[in-house]
Amino acid sequence: MKKNIINESVISFPALSRNESFARSAAAAFASQTDPTVAEIAAVKTAVSEAVTNSIVHGYRDAAGTVTLVLRLYADGTLYIAVKDRGRGIADITQAMQPMFSTAPAEEERSGLGFTVMESFMDSVRVRSAVGKGTTVVMEKRMKSRERCLVGR
Ligand SMILES: Nc1ncnc2c1ncn2[C@@H]1O[C@H](COP(=O)(O)OP(=O)(O)OP(=O)(O)O)[C@@H](O)[C@H]1O
Ligand SMILES: [Mg+2]
Repeated sequence: MKKNIINESVISFPALSRNESFARSAAAAFASQTDPTVAEIAAVKTAVSEAVTNSIVHGYRDAAGTVTLVLRLYADGTLYIAVKDRGRGIADITQAMQPMFSTAPAEEERSGLGFTVMESFMDSVRVRSAVGKGTTVVMEKRMKSRERCLVGR
């Protein structure tokens, strides 16, 4: 069944590490219309941060590029978040999503837990990717305070 979108925001920004905190705050600001709990806001910020950081450090690595953040609120109180890049892409998505799997060089000291963190904080995480074309991570979370977010729609 197609869900009813009651609000949407699309934000694009250059793949710079200083934009990680911007994206995190933008997602939190959008989610605030659902009158979320502190835990819900923390979950959204953490998940967005992991996905945007991945686009910047893995998708584009040393190259310039644009990251797009799509934020949607559905009528049933589900928050939809998509993080898109047109970077290198992922050859094996199942492997990339395994806990502790990372292609980052050892000196970067990445733990390979970004996708695991996204999955633990959001209700669903889906990844679409094509090598040389880019990656889209779609995450959804049903916000518990949904009754209030429907007021004034
Ligand atoms: N947007 C992306 N573009 C290209 N490759 C990606 C992208 N996102 C993730 N990957 C690949 O998936 C792997 C796993 O990502 P994940 O976020 O779980 O771990 P990590 O980024 O390596 O480490 P951590 O997130 O713990 O710092 C990455 O090492 C990288 O190879
Ligand atoms: Mg990561």
